[in-house]
Amino acid sequence: MAKRVCPFWVGYLLINPIRNLFENPYKLLGNFVREGMIVLEPGSGMGYFTIPLAHLVGPSGRVIAVDIEPKMIAVLEKRAFKAGMINRIERRLCKPDWLHVENLRESVDLAAVIHMLHETPDQGKFLKEIRQTLKKNGRLLIIEPRGHVSKQDFENSVALARLHGFTPDRQQFDLKGRKVLLQKI
Ligand SMILES: C[S@@+](CC[C@H](N)C(=O)[O-])C[C@H]1O[C@@H](n2cnc3c(N)ncnc32)[C@H](O)[C@@H]1O
Repeated sequence: MAKRVCPFWVGYLLINPIRNLFENPYKLLGNFVREGMIVLEPGSGMGYFTIPLAHLVGPSGRVIAVDIEPKMIAVLEKRAFKAGMINRIERRLCKPDWLHVENLRESVDLAAVIHMLHETPDQGKFLKEIRQTLKKNGRLLIIEPRGHVSKQDFENSVALARLHGFTPDRQQFDLKGRKVLLQKI
């Protein structure tokens, strides 16, 4: 069973521009994303990070946005179209325990898992699926919400990621901010 999954209506709160004041997508992601990259974004919601990601990867890059909630994907599509980014964003529906990314094997540069890892029913299985999509030395960015995820739970997730073939970048491990960049090993 999936746990504490974000209800559809919360998706609208998450795309409120006020969020830019404390969680600016370009500041958060700009250092990790380059033009031409392929970025996988599970739990994209209505695309608060997806559209900036599409800008950052440029016309030669691609963002694969995956979510379990069809209504989130539907709103993301509308927003991406309006922003002129629809051609850079592939949308996929998945199931709580199936990410629907088998055909991406070793093709992804960065997986951006933002405010969603704690919602997955089996973090180990999820991390395994993500790892298979990543290129050699591909990276995984995890950001979790402080309000929902304790320091201890976040540390447990990082420990689990280590067990599943990732190593945290010490420079980019912010326990207080619940943010870590990991590399596939
Ligand atoms: C809290 S929202 C965050 C949305 C977006 N990342 C953001 O920060 O604005 C979590 C999203 O993850 C999705 N989600 C939850 N469990 C999921 C799963 N197992 N696989 C894919 N998406 C999932 C939810 O439908 C929701 O859109």
